[in-house]
Amino acid sequence: MNILKTFSKNKTLPARYSDMTTTEMELRIKEIKKMLGNKLFLPAHHYQKDEVVQFADGTGDSLQLAKISALNKEADFIVFCGVHFMAETADMLSSVNQIVILPDLKAGCSMADMANIHQTERAWDELNKIFGDTILPLTYVNSTAEIKAFCGKNGGATVTSSNAKEMVSWAFEQKERLLFLPDQHLGRNTAYALGIPLQDMAIWDPIKNELIFEGSDIEQIKVILWKGHCSVHEKFTVNQIQDFRQNYSDYKIIVHPECTHEVVSASDLNGSTHYIIETIKHAAKGTKWAVGTEMNLVNRLAQQFSDKKIVSLNPNLCPCLTMNRIDLPHLLWSLENIIDGKLENIIKVDDETKKYAVMALNRMM
Ligand code: 13P
Ligand code: SF4
Repeated sequence: MNILKTFSKNKTLPARYSDMTTTEMELRIKEIKKMLGNKLFLPAHHYQKDEVVQFADGTGDSLQLAKISALNKEADFIVFCGVHFMAETADMLSSVNQIVILPDLKAGCSMADMANIHQTERAWDELNKIFGDTILPLTYVNSTAEIKAFCGKNGGATVTSSNAKEMVSWAFEQKERLLFLPDQHLGRNTAYALGIPLQDMAIWDPIKNELIFEGSDIEQIKVILWKGHCSVHEKFTVNQIQDFRQNYSDYKIIVHPECTHEVVSASDLNGSTHYIIETIKHAAKGTKWAVGTEMNLVNRLAQQFSDKKIVSLNPNLCPCLTMNRIDLPHLLWSLENIIDGKLENIIKVDDETKKYAVMALNRMM
């Protein structure tokens, strides 16, 4: 579902929540969680605020959240603390009788909204005219259920930042070239890490409906990158890395692969949010880290591992505004709605879309 359709369904948070104190809200959430017990499951992404994460029944990166949502069979309600595409995935992987709720429908993902199904079908027609039946579509999980279904229907799969290399290698066993949606940076960084030179990659511009390729022989193209990006991770720059190297040479730079190729190449390490957490957790005491990812996670790492020095690579920090829409008032509102039997913000993917999107997800899982 695109952001405009989602916004139109969003219910405004009742005013009474602004009059409640943090302690009142926390106590009430604890009370409801106790009341609902195993009937409620509350997964949270690593980018969620601490005020929300404290109540999570499980935290993880996108792949882990997809797995834990698929594994939980006992909860009637999955209150998903993350963004819309993650809640859609949880709905598709959970049982039909389980209800997935997103506390605020405005928690979308600007990257996922950079590829809609009409643009994708149009691109597919054009690319098939140029390359024939030689392309496999792969989509980053940060995409709508419709795009996942498109990939499923056309023999492709989903990928996350923690299995992108395996999935791209798999794709090349199926077809000669691939279309990678919607994040050009993850696609480029992954293909490059697997030994595909930048000259063998082209960009598909969904707005101009054109293929951008600087070489002379299009047969050379192995990877077609959708022109999408994450506006949070694009804020990390090579200049910031150079500043660190010059002024604080004892810092290691670790970034998420949604950062540009230049930033990933200039950094020491890159990987999913789970990889970033594990790397820092297992690093020696006293080590220093400049981290290129969303600020809630960077702040949490700094608090949790106070025996190390952890700062954001960007001195102005980088919040994901949509992830941050899930807060204590919205979480409490969702839980009180469950208790009152008036369910709001249910995320339900239609059966036809789900059938094909699950194919793409299963090929990955
Ligand atoms: P991870 O799968 O690494 O948690 O990434 C999700 C995401 O949206 C990063 O911007
Ligand atoms: Fe989407 Fe970027 Fe936010 Fe991740 S950080 S949810 S990719 S906008």
